[in-house]
Formats: sequence, C-alpha cells, structure tokens
Amino acid sequence: MKKVLRLHTSLFKENSVSSQLVQELTESLADRGDTLDIVDRDFRESPIPHLDAERLQALSTAKDERSAKQTALVDYSDSLIEEVQEADVLIIALPMYNFSVPSMFKAWFDHVARAGVTFAYTEQGPKGLLEGKKAYLVSAMGGSHEPGQTDFLRPYVKLLMNFVGIEDVEFVTARGLNMADDVRQQGIEEARADIERLVIQHSNNHQPTEEVAA
Ligand SMILES: Cc1cc2nc3c(=O)[nH]c(=O)nc-3n(C[C@H](O)[C@H](O)[C@H](O)COP(=O)(O)O)c2cc1C
Repeated sequence: MKKVLRLHTSLFKENSVSSQLVQELTESLADRGDTLDIVDRDFRESPIPHLDAERLQALSTAKDERSAKQTALVDYSDSLIEEVQEADVLIIALPMYNFSVPSMFKAWFDHVARAGVTFAYTEQGPKGLLEGKKAYLVSAMGGSHEPGQTDFLRPYVKLLMNFVGIEDVEFVTARGLNMADDVRQQGIEEARADIERLVIQHSNNHQPTEEVAA
C-alpha cells in the first residue's frame, strides 16, 4: 500500500489539463499493480491562505500561550505538513502562471517549510527532513518554455522539493496548450509519453529481485 498525496493547484475545474494528467498518472500506477491510498488536496475547493503576519505570530507563540484562534491557525498549517509527512508519493498538478507556480502553491509551501519539522539548519547548511519520498511534478503550460530560460516553474519546484528532503523528483510536462490545436494535442501526447516512460521505469525498479544462491 502506497500513500499518495495529490495536489490540484489549477484554478480551472473540469478543464484542468494538469489535474487530468495527474488522474491518468495515478491510474497508470494503479494498473501496474500498486495499491494506492489517495488523499486529494484541491486548492479550488479549499483555497490555501497566505502565511500572513497573524499566522506567523501564531506559529512563533509558545503552544501553551496561544489563543484559541492562534491554535486553530497553527493546526491548519500542521495539517498541511502532516499530509506530506504521511505520504510516500506526492503527485502535484502544476499549471504555469506567469512563468512560475500558481501563487496558492507558493502559499502551500510557505506553510509546509517549517524549520525543525520539514527542514533543519545544520552546521553544513539546511537539511531536508522529508526523506524517502517521491514527487511527480505534472506541469501544464500554454506556451513552450525551456527550464531556466522562461520556465521558472520546474527548476523552482524541484528546488523546493529538494529543500525539504524529497530528492526523487520526476516530471510530466504538457506544453503548447494555448497554441494551435495540433500543437496542443502534441503537447498532451508528449505528457502521456512521459507518464508511460515513468510508469515502466517505476515497475522495472520494483520487480522482485531473484535470490542469489549462496
Ligand atoms: C493566470 C494565468 C497565467 C498564465 N501564465 C502563463 C505563462 O506564463 N506561460 C504559459 O505558457 N502559459 C500561461 N498560462 C496558461 C496556462 O499555463 C495553461 O492554460 C495551462 O493549461 C493551465 O493548466 P491547467 O489546464 O491545469 O489549468 C496562464 C494561465 C493563467 C490562468
């Protein structure tokens, strides 16, 4: 049994390509024999609030000194962190907005990155504490962008994952979705090819290894 946390960060409901591809990836992983226990956090149904001054103040107030409101604010951030801690796999639907991530995804990460809980400061620098997890970053973009040139989404989210200790990061990318019909269709097919490749790679890595005779 694998625990999967899926984040749906698009503003579009039925027509979100990134959410559709997340669904296809999940089904492909399940078809390959993985039993998945899925938790969906859908930003369209439950918008993520900014980590504002009031929330930061609540987080930096000692537990037994918090007001009821501060306790509720901290409980909310804790619940986002617990969802990640409990997951073996994160599958994140990520539309490109203004060359980077949706602002609610950034807000989500501001809640999740907490010193002493999801990362620690050490003498060698920061160290991620969410080890042993895998993340699939399923991005959708209207145009065509190269990482580090006009695509600040993929390098940035990979960095965020690595920062909290998630080193095993894979990409599914649909490009050209707001371009001509054939370009859009090709972008979706390339993303489906990414899914197929990753699922085959995943099942090859999990073949039972033959016992070597002593
Ligand atoms: C607010 C907003 C900003 C966008 N900015 C970009 C952008 O910078 N580059 C791009 O290629 N597409 C951009 N798009 C287009 C989306 O990336 C594209 O529609 C994609 O399909 C969205 O993913 P979704 O279908 O999962 O919602 C933007 C769309 C919106 C709504």
